[in-house]
Amino acid sequence: MDNPQLHPLEVNPKTGEPFLRLLSHKNIILTPPRLSDAPFLIPLLNDERVYHWLSSPPYPYLPEHADWWLNQIKPASDRILAELEDARNDATLKIVDGSPVRIIREVQEDGTEIFLGDICINLAEQPWELEGSGRDSQGTPRRDPSDPDIWTLGDYLAPSHHGRGIMSDAFNTLLHQWGIPRMGVQRMVVTTLEGNKGSVRVFEKQGFKFRKTIEDAIDVRGTKRGVHVLEWSHGT
Ligand SMILES: CC(C)(COP(=O)(O)OP(=O)(O)OC[C@H]1O[C@@H](n2cnc3c(N)ncnc32)[C@H](O)[C@@H]1OP(=O)(O)O)[C@@H](O)C(=O)NCCC(=O)NCCS
Repeated sequence: MDNPQLHPLEVNPKTGEPFLRLLSHKNIILTPPRLSDAPFLIPLLNDERVYHWLSSPPYPYLPEHADWWLNQIKPASDRILAELEDARNDATLKIVDGSPVRIIREVQEDGTEIFLGDICINLAEQPWELEGSGRDSQGTPRRDPSDPDIWTLGDYLAPSHHGRGIMSDAFNTLLHQWGIPRMGVQRMVVTTLEGNKGSVRVFEKQGFKFRKTIEDAIDVRGTKRGVHVLEWSHGT
């Protein structure tokens, strides 16, 4: 029997891999990272329509960068799955510190999958994300109900699939199916590089409110860039 602690993830009967199906785009799923994803990440993160809007990945994005990254995020996903396995017989659903599924894949009619991108809810760490919260950094969630942790989002999608509502659906699905119920996400503060209208709109469509724009906030591959900061609280 599938582990009830995976709820609401489904399990691929052929591979045993858990996945989360998007609420509107039913042929798109979120899965754990796979080490075999490296060759698919590389062209996306070398595409100007993607990397121009991301602050952390190096450019040019090389095979060793992809391998390093997958060797960071796959063990993190595995650890959450192991935690959920250990809690298999618990009566209540365990709250965990991350999502085991994050890679966006399109499922073809023949069952093969195309790598489309990545979406991840993490604890916020940028100073402008933590501003006003009394926190300098957040190593692990505090889980204080009177002072919710501040979470943020990182995401990108293959340009071939931009503008079809996929990231809005992916974020809505991940936040409401896993982030809120299984990670205890109550508050988010997110950052986009200045001028990233698509990303700002994805957040606005989830009910995020614009907080501020900060000029010259961040060094991106040797150039100072501005950022837009948006915020959200559950139930407001
Ligand atoms: C930003 C990004 C994730 C948006 O994903 P997407 O699936 O194309 O977005 P959606 O189709 O869900 O569009 C959401 C809204 O943004 C609007 N939008 C999308 N791209 C836009 C653009 N370039 N300019 C203006 N509006 C845009 C859409 O029209 C839609 O609004 P609407 O429903 O009111 O019409 C995607 O373009 C991307 O991966 N960009 C490169 C990496 C990146 O910017 N990541 C985010 C870092 S903060």
